[in-house]
This record gives sequence, C-alpha cells and structure tokens, in this order.
Amino acid sequence: MNRKIGYIGFGSIVSGYHYTTAMREDVPFTPTAVYDVDPARRALAEERGLQTFDNLADFLASHLFELVVIGIPNQYHCEYACAALEAGYHVMCEKPVAMSVEELEKMIATAEKTGKMFTVHQNRRYDRDALIVKEVIAGGKLGNLISVESRVHSANGNGQMFGWRMFADHGGGYFGDWGIHVLDQVLDVVRSPIRSVYGIVKTLGSTDAGEDYTKIIITFKDGLTAQIEATDFAPLPLPKWMVYGDKGALRVDGICGETGKLRCIKKSHVEETPALVYLNESVSERSYGKVVIDEWEERTVPEVPITQDWAKLYLNLAGYLDGKEPLAVDPAGVLRCFRVLEAAKRSSETGEAVLFD
Ligand SMILES: NC(=O)c1ccc[n+]([C@@H]2O[C@H](COP(=O)([O-])OP(=O)(O)OC[C@H]3O[C@@H](n4cnc5c(N)ncnc54)[C@H](O)[C@@H]3O)[C@@H](O)[C@H]2O)c1
Repeated sequence: MNRKIGYIGFGSIVSGYHYTTAMREDVPFTPTAVYDVDPARRALAEERGLQTFDNLADFLASHLFELVVIGIPNQYHCEYACAALEAGYHVMCEKPVAMSVEELEKMIATAEKTGKMFTVHQNRRYDRDALIVKEVIAGGKLGNLISVESRVHSANGNGQMFGWRMFADHGGGYFGDWGIHVLDQVLDVVRSPIRSVYGIVKTLGSTDAGEDYTKIIITFKDGLTAQIEATDFAPLPLPKWMVYGDKGALRVDGICGETGKLRCIKKSHVEETPALVYLNESVSERSYGKVVIDEWEERTVPEVPITQDWAKLYLNLAGYLDGKEPLAVDPAGVLRCFRVLEAAKRSSETGEAVLFD
C-alpha cells in the first residue's frame, strides 16, 4: 500500500525530483497535495492532479497525506517542520535542514515528543562517488583508515548562487547548498567519535550570503583525520575524494564520479635494515624491521558499475515506516553534522580548534 505525501513547496527540487520519484512504480509513495505561496507553482501542481493550498493551516488540517516533504528556502524549515510534526505527520525536510544547531534540536525534540519520523533529504549519500568509497573501505584493501578527504570544488565564482540562495537570511550560501552534502557524506563514511574540529570560513565572492570558501578538519578519537572543503572558486579542482589507509589509497574524481583509482599493497615483507646512528660523539650501527613493498596492486574500482539512485532514500523511508529497517538519515547523525559545522564556524572566528566531549 502506497503512503501519501504532501509537499510544502513545489519549486525546482520538489516538482523536478521528489514528485517524479514518488510517481515511480517501484517507490511506494503517492503525492496528493501541495502548499506553496506562489500561484504559478500551485497551478503546476494542479496540472499534475494534486490538491493545492495557499496557506499552511488548511494544508495541515487536510490529512490528505501521512508524510510531509519540505522543499522551501531554508529559513522556514524549522518552523514548518515543527508545525507538521505537531499536526501528526512524519517529516522529511530538505537540506540544509536548519539555520542552526538550536533550530535542529527543536525539530528533533518535537519529533520525539510527537513520536513522528523526522529525517533529512541527504540524497548525496547515494551519489556514486560516495558509494564507491564505502564499498572500497568495506572491502578492507585500504587497511586501517588514516585520512579521508572530500571536497566540492567548482569554478563558478558564485555562479551557482542564484535567487534566495544569495541571501544570508534565507540560509543561502555555498556551504549550505553544496558543502553540507560533502560533510554529510564524510560523516556517513566515518562514524567514529569526534575529538576536535578546526575550521576556516571565508568570503571570496559577492553574494550577501558570503562564506563561500569553507575548510573543515576533523580529528577523531581513533586517530583518523577528515578534511572537507567546499568552494565555488576552484579553477583547478582537486579530486572529489582522497582516502588513505595504512595499506593503500583511493582516489575518486568528480561529483557522481563513475570509477575510482585504487592503489594498495599486494605483497610486502619486513626486512632488517641497518643504519648508522649517532649518539653523543660516537657512531654505532642499529637495525630496524622495515616494511618493504614488493608489489603494488593498482586497479579501477568498482569491479561492477554502481547504479546511482537517490530513490534508495525513499525506499529506506518506506522500510523504516513498515518497521523493517533503521532510518538511514537519522536525527542523531544530522545533529552530529550540524555540530561540526557550527564548531567549524566558531573555530574560524577564534583560530582555535573546538574540542568535542
Ligand atoms: N537535496 C538536494 O539535492 C537539493 C537540491 C536542490 C535544492 N535543495 C533544497 O530544497 C529546498 C528548496 O530548494 P529549490 O531549489 O527547490 O528552491 P525553489 O526556489 O526552486 O523552490 C522553493 C519553493 O518554495 C516556495 N516557497 C517559498 N517560501 C514559501 C513559504 N513560506 N511557504 C510555502 N512555499 C514557499 C516557492 O514558491 C517555491 O515554489 C532548499 O532547502 C534547498 O537547499 C536540495
């Protein structure tokens, strides 16, 4: 049985992606209703057979659906998500889910109070490049992970920031638009407890939202380090991912890149290696058991091409609501992501790393 969806906002992501995905036969959801302030967007929804509303109260009172998907400018997410949860609906909100940790905590507390599902549309966890990284790490060829780097480097010089995205009071800006996906991808790959966050947040371009260059360095309690970089000013882009372990490295180029390059140790042996060392004013010989690499393994990964499909997130929602699987994008994970982002901004102001508990 399909579950019914009501949309708050019927702009580009909802009409162009959420609606068409829910209409797929293999996705067990059915769109029924839309609330949007713009008559033109309501007219489009009506053409597609959806019931429309020009105000939130009537939309929420309609009970034409059980799941509300929110796809409007970011400064409204918290208020509208809480209203929908309070009215008895499950909620999936677009990213960036909130304007602050405080807002997100309010949304999570409302979901807990009402007992309703609350999740975020972090669809880029299902991008091919992120899936390749997860598959290679799980295969163990990299050994113990040392460092995970991911970035979004574009060279548009604010070109991607248009409409409400140009304004700070709408939660616009490059990090919220793109960087948050990369941070979410990295924290999905590395689940270890965080020790510290260091951030550099700069404004290079000319939109009101600013903050269009962000670098975040996270150290984890198990010794791993992650680096995230998001900028619209990268005329020479670096690879989307570089992942290093103590047995190899993985490089994946490009957002949604189709393949990665894996180089890892195929054969090695330990050799006693003598060396001269100097202690005070005397010379003596010491030896050391040094790892010598006999052969590297180099190949293109994955073996079988990965099909990218963001609808997996919808299939997970259905599985979760049926009590069959855990929620992929759970509130605790989203909160962890936002705490890192807020810590990075604080660190950028003080020049000091922020320590986590
Ligand atoms: N996950 C992704 O890959 C992805 C991609 C694009 C956008 N997004 C997110 O989706 C959200 C919407 O982005 P978009 O590109 O579709 O924007 P958009 O400008 O194309 O659409 C926004 C819609 O919201 C409506 N709206 C604005 N204020 C409203 C209000 N107060 N009440 C009701 N309706 C209102 C507008 O009329 C418009 O139809 C943002 O949070 C954005 O970050 C996510």
